[in-house]
Amino acid sequence: MRILSGIQPSGVLHIGNYFGMMRPAIALQEEGETFYFIADYHALTSVQNPAALRENSRRVAVDFLACGLDPEQGALFRQSDVPQVTELAWILSTVTPMGLLERCHSYKDKTARGMPASAGLFTYPVLMAADILIYDSDLVPVGKDQKQHIEVTRDVAIKINERFGDLFKLPEPRIQSNTETVPGVDGQKMSKSYGNTIDIFGEENETRKRIMSIVTDSTPVEAPKNPETSSILQLYSLVATEAEIVTIKQAFARGGTGYGEFKKQLFARLWEYFAPMRARRAEIMGQPTYVDEVLARGAERANGIADDVMSRVRAAVGL
Ligand code: TYM
Repeated sequence: MRILSGIQPSGVLHIGNYFGMMRPAIALQEEGETFYFIADYHALTSVQNPAALRENSRRVAVDFLACGLDPEQGALFRQSDVPQVTELAWILSTVTPMGLLERCHSYKDKTARGMPASAGLFTYPVLMAADILIYDSDLVPVGKDQKQHIEVTRDVAIKINERFGDLFKLPEPRIQSNTETVPGVDGQKMSKSYGNTIDIFGEENETRKRIMSIVTDSTPVEAPKNPETSSILQLYSLVATEAEIVTIKQAFARGGTGYGEFKKQLFARLWEYFAPMRARRAEIMGQPTYVDEVLARGAERANGIADDVMSRVRAAVGL
């Protein structure tokens, strides 16, 4: 089974990325051949500063490795190290109905928030389809916000298959229900572009401040609180043991503890959870050539497959 996913180097990685995609993706390394990449072509739709894009891309590689990605088991590479993917995106775009792209929430949300409506932003899902199809991927671990893009990928693959013969497998999304949308400090989906993130490798005081700023209702300290609607509890549940979750739920229901105290517990648990990753990250930062070697090896493996698939595609479409 081939498993593939990507992450945009459009900023610093946050715990929504981690629990929504990176943790499940790392766990899947046991189940198949994995291809995980840094989607730098995609990030160009929002990061148009060369130094920042280069720096972010490298940082995503370091952070993904620090979180447990094993480059011996799977490939980690930069999307732009496999430029054939843009050729496939072009070919796919010739069968992609405009209406399919016009229905994509991500494009509508981004332009509604003031992002310029570039052709690249509009055709973003076609490049994503190419990313997935060029490796004959079976499974794509993602957060819920990417579900529609995988549906587009399947639709485009079906169109190509109908027109040119059975060229592509239809990939399946893998979305974990308990982490499909990790909330940010304002209770909305955690997202770089909403400014509501808690970063995986944020500095200690900043991380504490972010957690203390989680928006809550105005239930007084002594009153019982609803655990079901609390983003504090939702985040705590990602890092705590079953027993700890039961205890905190009881404390919510009992009353007598303020949200500030729960936030402190969340910070303590979260900080501890990422301690081994911080240690691993410090180690990786001490070996500057390691990341370059990993990315070079990953690119080589990815190119091998992409070249084979593109030969098949070019022949089938008449190029
Ligand atoms: P990106 O960079 O926005 O996010 C990377 C991954 O993190 C997940 N994620 C979340 N999951 C749960 N809760 C959240 N708050 C949260 N925030 C982010 C995302 O769902 C995603 O899985 N278009 C993709 C990158 C991409 C890609 C691909 C993915 C490009 N080509 C091919 C899969 C296959 C993106 O922008 O992800």
